[in-house]
Amino acid sequence: MINKFDVLIIGTGAAGLMSALQLSSELSVALIAKDKLLEGSSYYAQGGVSAVLDIGDDFAAHIKDTLEIGWGLGDEKAITFMVENAPAAIQSLEEIGVIFTQEKDHYHLTTEGGHSNRRVAHVADKTGKSIQTNLLKSVKEKANIKLFENFIAVDLLCKNQQCYGAYILNKTSNEVENFSAGQTIIATGGASKSYLYTSNPDTSTGDGIAMAHRVGCDIVNMEFTQFHPTCLYHPQAKSFLISETLRGEGAKLILSNGDAFMHKYDARLELAPRDVVARAIDSEMKENGFDCVYLDISHKDKDWILAHFPTISNKCAEFGIDISKQPIPVVPAAHYTCGGIQTDINAHSDLGNLYAIGEAAHTGVHGANRMASNSLLECIVFAKACAQHINSQTKVQSHPRFNNWDASRVIRSKEQVMVAHLWDEIRRIMWNFIGIVRSNKRLYAAQIRISQIQNEVDEYYQLYLISSDLIELRNLITIAKITIQSAISRTESRGLHYNKDYPQTSAIIKNTIIKP
Ligand code: FAD
Ligand code: SIN
Repeated sequence: MINKFDVLIIGTGAAGLMSALQLSSELSVALIAKDKLLEGSSYYAQGGVSAVLDIGDDFAAHIKDTLEIGWGLGDEKAITFMVENAPAAIQSLEEIGVIFTQEKDHYHLTTEGGHSNRRVAHVADKTGKSIQTNLLKSVKEKANIKLFENFIAVDLLCKNQQCYGAYILNKTSNEVENFSAGQTIIATGGASKSYLYTSNPDTSTGDGIAMAHRVGCDIVNMEFTQFHPTCLYHPQAKSFLISETLRGEGAKLILSNGDAFMHKYDARLELAPRDVVARAIDSEMKENGFDCVYLDISHKDKDWILAHFPTISNKCAEFGIDISKQPIPVVPAAHYTCGGIQTDINAHSDLGNLYAIGEAAHTGVHGANRMASNSLLECIVFAKACAQHINSQTKVQSHPRFNNWDASRVIRSKEQVMVAHLWDEIRRIMWNFIGIVRSNKRLYAAQIRISQIQNEVDEYYQLYLISSDLIELRNLITIAKITIQSAISRTESRGLHYNKDYPQTSAIIKNTIIKP
């Protein structure tokens, strides 16, 4: 079956939805999601969107903070573009119905690690939910956009260095369909699900990055996985984040005996950048043999806590934790993929007619570490830039024909257990060997085993009918391979990449570029 559109957007997070909304109504657009339309990291964002909105703040400070947090690797041109377009990004969100939390007659701006000013606009602690529901509502009102829920992209359709859409598995019919498109936008989010413990939903398997790698795009800086310092530690709490904005509002990190510890690591204490805080927690847990540390906001008034952090208060209450009275047990978990598909200021990749936006892209704004709340901002700013660029192009009229998906030489697998096992093994290897603190021994051990698993996955893929789990497994192994290769090639410690065999930061500043 062939579906023909002017634009194919893979992913319905903040990046995908915003780009769809900004595309000209003259263009036919397919917007696909491998799960429910609202499922993805964007929906779960708590903290907010950073932007210079306070009269005491300015663009130069936002740019400087972002560059500093990025440890010299941030691209100043891309950062300036993002920061200067941030107030307009907030306005675009307000125009579709997002109501940012106000205090008296202005925004209640909060703060997080690395921000020198209060500049995080938020909707209490459910910013992502508000952004996503409003974006989706607006997208549904546009007649030129067709939504496809439970459709998972398998591979991009490319010829002569140009992209013309993708093979997409309809998860309901189990048929692979050709989606032919003049322009294709990858908006598939990050790859934190490649780690055993993550703040991310199940959708973050790095599919877009892996697909782009397979067709020849440069993949940049994948060694920089950001670990969020504070995810809820509870056996029944899957992937629940405790927002950094709690620390922005004065929450303290403590050990089980009540002792604070951040003063041992950084003068900025709880508001040191995430790489520093995550390593500090990791070090306290490993040295003392603790399962977790604690985050305490109980000094704040109960009504204030409920007004500002309703989602977090309610979730913790489900597990018997009253955050107005007790400290919250927390651990670090994989949170954000700073690396991704190399793009320019228009979100264009190395391949003709192929764009990448949101967490899947490497625009250069984060460098070796991302400043909190710069991600949703990046999604909105570059989604708009991408749509404007496509709107300015002449429509691609002739789409080359691609063969239909051929499943005649594969059979239904009776060995599904292998898929589940390899999924688990990859995620454990990533967590244990390419985690918060790395060493050469562990990186090389991981490389050997990941390469064996790669062969096992390739063989399985050749023999059996594809499924959603198998597609994701194939992408996860690619992500693991690229991440390890990137980590091995960085013979220094910088930002989120800390290798105890190379503890120094090199004077030579360079990106890690992985080619196919
Ligand atoms: P996502 O929102 O993850 O969406 C990805 C989309 O791609 C989904 O629709 C998914 O179904 C689809 N998809 C993936 N693979 C395929 C495929 N093969 N085929 C079809 N569809 C596919 N950032 C901030 O700036 N501020 C915050 O406060 C903040 N809080 C966060 C809290 C949490 C718990 C998490 C996990 C992240 C947070 N972040 C925050 C980071 C930020 O939310 C994400 O980086 C951002 O939302 C990513 O948006 P995206 O559109 O790129 O991807
Ligand atoms: C948080 O609320 O702590 C997450 C913010 C972010 O990842 O930018």
